Amino acid sequence: MSRALVVRCIPRGDTSATGRILRAFLDSARPQFVETVDLCVDHPDFLTDPDKANAYAKRSWSGIPLTPEEGKALAKSDRYVAQIMRTDCVIIAYPVYNFSMPAVVKAWFDSVIIKGLTFDEGSDGRAKGLLVRQKAVLITVAGGHVSRSDHVDHSTALSTSLLNYIGIKQIHTIIAEDLDAQMERREALIQQAINNARIVGNIALAR
Ligand SMILES: Cc1cc2nc3c(=O)[nH]c(=O)nc-3n(C[C@H](O)[C@H](O)[C@H](O)COP(=O)(O)O)c2cc1C
Repeated sequence: MSRALVVRCIPRGDTSATGRILRAFLDSARPQFVETVDLCVDHPDFLTDPDKANAYAKRSWSGIPLTPEEGKALAKSDRYVAQIMRTDCVIIAYPVYNFSMPAVVKAWFDSVIIKGLTFDEGSDGRAKGLLVRQKAVLITVAGGHVSRSDHVDHSTALSTSLLNYIGIKQIHTIIAEDLDAQMERREALIQQAINNARIVGNIALAR
């Protein structure tokens, strides 16, 4: 049984470059069970509300059980955590926005990095990721040439660090870049990424 969790931020929809590359991946991977979090509709909490931020800190760091109200304040985070805990492979797809990931993608990461559930403190006092069974696929689409330097796409390094932090070490990355910078080659570049997505799809969910 292969389970996939698709976490998507695709503002321009399924016919956009990100949407097409994600589709090619899923058509090739053919997971038996797919759950989707559409971050353009299903917005994660931004932890700007004191009730939520305090409940989040209390749950992670105090060791004191939450009150029912505090538990309710974290319901969305609990749902995202349950989804990533039960999946075999999380697929995260987004366009690069201003050198990084769209804010809702970072807010989703903030919602699933929870002490005691997705990471914990090891006996040496260092953080230890708990999602060691899961794999990840990262689909990143950019208008410019982001692989040229570490300073024009912080999102791939950040997503990789955050996934590693919660224990996910096997990560396939599919990057489509230059889509706005080389308009005349745009379709060819998307096709190249679609071909990569098909190849990764063939192996990502294999045991
Ligand atoms: C708000 C915004 C910020 C962007 N920032 C960047 C950027 O920093 N680097 C880059 O290479 N492309 C950037 N782009 C371009 C998009 O990543 C690019 O157009 C991509 O193809 C969009 O994906 P889509 O075709 O699936 O919508 C930005 C686009 C928008 C709308």
